[in-house]
Amino acid sequence: MSDRYCVFGNPVGHSKSPAIHALFARQTGEDIVYEALLAPRDGFADSVRAFVAAGGRGANVTVPFKEEAFRLCTQRSARAQLAGAVNTLSFAGGEIAGDNTDGAGLVRDLVFNLKTPLAGRRILLLGAGGAARGALGPILEREPEALVVANRTADRAEDLALHFAGFGPVRGCGFAELTGETFDVVINATSASLAGEVPPLPEGLFSPDALAYDMMYGRGDTVFLAHARQLGVPRLADGLGMLVEQAAEAFFVWRGVRPDTAPVLDQLRGA
Ligand code: ATR
Repeated sequence: MSDRYCVFGNPVGHSKSPAIHALFARQTGEDIVYEALLAPRDGFADSVRAFVAAGGRGANVTVPFKEEAFRLCTQRSARAQLAGAVNTLSFAGGEIAGDNTDGAGLVRDLVFNLKTPLAGRRILLLGAGGAARGALGPILEREPEALVVANRTADRAEDLALHFAGFGPVRGCGFAELTGETFDVVINATSASLAGEVPPLPEGLFSPDALAYDMMYGRGDTVFLAHARQLGVPRLADGLGMLVEQAAEAFFVWRGVRPDTAPVLDQLRGA
């Protein structure tokens, strides 16, 4: 029988993870099945236990359960502890082991797929919620010249920056305080796009060869990328690459085999 994996979310019907892991399995010859499972908002832990009882070997976790998954784990990787959230669960011997592959997926997409080194560059991270938090450790590991976290609620950005102060040159602020600064990479980790909004950014933020990156993705430009395109930002990328890379990293955690992401990303972009 194939080893069972799934992604828990609510909603989860739109998830591309089953398609991505099916492609990884075919490519690597790993005998797994992977499905999307809708967990009730107040029933995440029960859903996980039922999946384990039914022989589940591992699971991904998406919105809104990543913090709850963190609490549910009996073991946590260093990067999960740093992120305070878990997107990858492994079940063995009665233990629930938690990992977080989101930040690693983002950095892999930036550095390898988009050929955008972070070392010595000025990076701006917009947002201070769960999506932003997972990115700080892996970005700082790449030794940027500066990482600025800017958020609508400045306090949250300042707190987050303080939490990571030991890992590199990071500072938190509100959007208005960015006036007069320029950045090589600007990453949108806010959920503003969901409301069709763009964070109120001062002019002149993007360096001449900047990359604008949105963790969200959709058909065509996200509102953030459309805004950047209008400003003449030369390089734009959405979060589909990050999605595929975090999945590949989870696949590696479970199976010890690293899939080749390029053909999978090509296939998703073509679909
Ligand atoms: P997630 O886990 O997706 O990051 P979250 O923890 O709710 O979700 O965080 C959402 C982030 O998007 C926050 O940084 C939020 O800013 P606040 O901390 O000020 O709430 C940001 N955000 C949401 N809507 C926004 C908007 N319309 N403009 C700017 N920032 C927005």
